[in-house]
Amino acid sequence: MSELGGGAPQKSPTVTLNSGAAIPQLGLGVWQATDSETEGAVAYALGEAGYRHIDTAAAYGNEAGVGRGLATSGVPREDIFLTTKLWNSDQGYQRAFDAFDVSLDKLGVDYVDLYLIHWPLQDRDRLLRTWEALEEIVASGRAKSIGVCNFEPHHLEFLADRGSILPAINQVELHPHLPQHQIRSAAAGLGVAVQSWSPLGGTANAGWGQDSKPNTLLTDPAIAAIAGRHGKSPAQVLIRWHLQNGLIVIPKSAHPERIAQNIDVFDFDLTDVDLAEIGTLDDGARVGLHPDEMNLGAPE
Ligand SMILES: NC(=O)c1ccc[n+]([C@@H]2O[C@H](COP(=O)([O-])OP(=O)(O)OC[C@H]3O[C@@H](n4cnc5c(N)ncnc54)[C@H](OP(=O)(O)O)[C@@H]3O)[C@@H](O)[C@H]2O)c1
Repeated sequence: MSELGGGAPQKSPTVTLNSGAAIPQLGLGVWQATDSETEGAVAYALGEAGYRHIDTAAAYGNEAGVGRGLATSGVPREDIFLTTKLWNSDQGYQRAFDAFDVSLDKLGVDYVDLYLIHWPLQDRDRLLRTWEALEEIVASGRAKSIGVCNFEPHHLEFLADRGSILPAINQVELHPHLPQHQIRSAAAGLGVAVQSWSPLGGTANAGWGQDSKPNTLLTDPAIAAIAGRHGKSPAQVLIRWHLQNGLIVIPKSAHPERIAQNIDVFDFDLTDVDLAEIGTLDDGARVGLHPDEMNLGAPE
């Protein structure tokens, strides 16, 4: 990383992935931010708030906004950890290469730090061919690491068995209502890092169709009480819970004051009592869809 880069100093510690790359443990998610909101959020996060890790996806429709935000932030490209994802309709060997080129073009970069398969889908042969394309992309240096999202243990075991490269990351829905102990245990056994999506409990009516759920974590009384004890916000308590559990976390906000608040979490620790109380919130409630029941956009 550059010593003389622009922007506020990096605030998050890094985690070393099985690819050897260092990823800032806390990054900014941009799902459901419009292209222009994303540009402002990314520029602010990198330039003023001290983030160095941005998580987007082709399906979010805001890769161009991410690219403009990167460019105006003043932070050198090599200091930024940039993730994008391959959407379901682009699964397959040749489609994956084509989609990757489109993403690089929209982002205005010549490499990404992490390229993820967005969903496992149910067609195992196609999934494997997609992964073979990602293995060639990482070998070419145009992605520094490759990984997956929403993989259940059986999907991870399949790729570990049939692929040549292990995913660096499995990005899954994960928060105190859904701590994903089985996925974390399977990933730890293989040396795959786990990244939490909807870490604050997600956005109300997030576009999951009839299954959309309100966010109940940011207003949970137990989280509010812990926040009160530390003089912090519920969002900051939730982010500490992820960090202290060794998870990589990408809370989303399009508002500067929240973007700043969400990275102002390195001056306090949750106690063992706090962590045990948060542990009681595990009720298996999802805000998104179960990966085994989701095949949206799968190619014919
Ligand atoms: N791989 C996948 O399949 C997948 C799926 C879902 C999400 N993701 C990734 O994970 C990221 C995070 O997940 P998410 O966007 O679903 O949900 P989230 O980060 O859990 O929650 C975002 C919601 O919390 C609000 N918020 C943020 N900071 C706050 C604060 N300090 N105080 C109060 N409210 C706050 C945001 O509102 P404002 O924006 O209005 O501030 C937004 O409504 C996404 O952006 C995306 O990058 C990946």
